Amino acid sequence: MTQASTSGNAAQRPARRGAGKSLKRGLTVWLIGVLSALLVVDAWFSYRDALAAANQAYDRSLSASLKGIAERIYATESEVVVDIPYSALELFEAGSSDRVFYSVGHPGEALITGYEGLPAPSELKPNVAVFFDGVYRGQALRLGAMLKPLYRTEFPKPVLVILGETTNSRQDVVFSLFAGEIGRKAVLVVVALMVALLAARLAVKPVERLGQAIRERPEDDLTPVTGSDLPREVEPLVDAINLHMGRIERMVEARRRFITDAAHQLRTPLAVLNTQAEYALRQDSAAAMRPAVEALHTSLGSAIRLTNQLLALSRAESVNGLMLSRQAVDLSVLARDMVIELLPLAARKQIDLGFEDAAGQALSVVGNAVLLREMLANLIDNALRYTPPGGMVTVRLGADEAWPGGVRLAVIDNGPGIPASEREAVFQRFYRLDVSDHTGSGLGLSIVREIVLSHAGEIHLDDAPDGTGLCVWVRLPPG
Ligand SMILES: Nc1ncnc2c1ncn2[C@@H]1O[C@H](COP(=O)(O)OP(=O)(O)OP(=O)(O)O)[C@@H](O)[C@H]1O
Ligand SMILES: [Mg+2]
Repeated sequence: MTQASTSGNAAQRPARRGAGKSLKRGLTVWLIGVLSALLVVDAWFSYRDALAAANQAYDRSLSASLKGIAERIYATESEVVVDIPYSALELFEAGSSDRVFYSVGHPGEALITGYEGLPAPSELKPNVAVFFDGVYRGQALRLGAMLKPLYRTEFPKPVLVILGETTNSRQDVVFSLFAGEIGRKAVLVVVALMVALLAARLAVKPVERLGQAIRERPEDDLTPVTGSDLPREVEPLVDAINLHMGRIERMVEARRRFITDAAHQLRTPLAVLNTQAEYALRQDSAAAMRPAVEALHTSLGSAIRLTNQLLALSRAESVNGLMLSRQAVDLSVLARDMVIELLPLAARKQIDLGFEDAAGQALSVVGNAVLLREMLANLIDNALRYTPPGGMVTVRLGADEAWPGGVRLAVIDNGPGIPASEREAVFQRFYRLDVSDHTGSGLGLSIVREIVLSHAGEIHLDDAPDGTGLCVWVRLPPG
């Protein structure tokens, strides 16, 4: 049993929309993109810092060696003596893969000792060590240079000392500092990504739970969804679902009511028609049959009217899910045509049917022409039907001063009118003041009210301006 219902649900499960984007995938792509970009920028800064730190440390020992060499340079009366301390060069080479190059000599002259052609800085001050990068014999070097004055009249020119080393061990230090830093950050990035994905997964869970709960509901359960454990961010979705459920429920209710009404209201007239037909068939002569067929014809007319009114009401109900098209409708043209159409009926009843409108004024509303016609037909039909022969019915149309751009319609008759106490009740379905009269179905005013409301308008019943009779006011807003 359980299995059957589960598979039934699975079968009804709507296909996932192919174009739907995955939140998790989107988040992953974004995070990987942004974090990688940040990592690259950070790597550049880390490399620069590591290089600065390594240079600072190595330049200090380069400086010590440079000073050590400079201190051991002195001049006698005839020559400049350079006694390079072995320790100054050993300092670098011991245990490292780096090579050391040096040169000592007067600037612009032949070297006193050392390697020819080492790169030299452009500006130097006496006894101040200067550090710079250079290339020597195809190798990258970090160099230090210093001018040492000899303070002897025989040798007025200072001696330039240059000491350079290859950068292998510096690079090693830079790399290990840099790699360590980047490694730690990369781990952080991966952890952040995992946490974000986990968070996204957790955040989506309530939505999945909500979907599951709705799927598992019985088919006819349209009660609002509740979920106290749902996060606040999901509330708009729940509200929208509930709003939609409400609409569907009202629609289903309207359908159910229509079917009940139709079944209930049509049963009696159809039974009457059947009886009348049977009675007519039992008559022997055509002359005896005639009144029976006439009665049958009248009943058939009422049944047709009832059926049409039921269908019209169902069409007019805004909750029935029919999206009727709307466009600008000129109400004065519509009302005039309707009056002309009903003139023969009025003439048969000796009723003076008149039409008045505010000439020259466009009286347009945005609405459904078929429904608005139905509304006019019902109002004029009522006035003609309930006003005794010799009466007067006026359809008056004008702009609504209180509602700029709106239209005001009045259908006035001088018939019996509707007592004030009944003016609300006559809008109910199947409510009729004279129950003995079987010509109407009691749906006309319900239809009219549905149409007016679906056009966001207002309707009310009043005494006719001259005292006797009914005046039906309809106000329709501008489109
Ligand atoms: N102009 C009117 N003057 C007097 N009574 C009216 C007028 N219009 C409506 N009524 C009363 O209100 C009742 C309800 O009117 P409604 O149009 O809803 O139904 P109906 O005319 O009886 O039937 P139908 O659905 O065929 O129009 C009528 O039965 C009638 O008693
Ligand atoms: Mg009516």
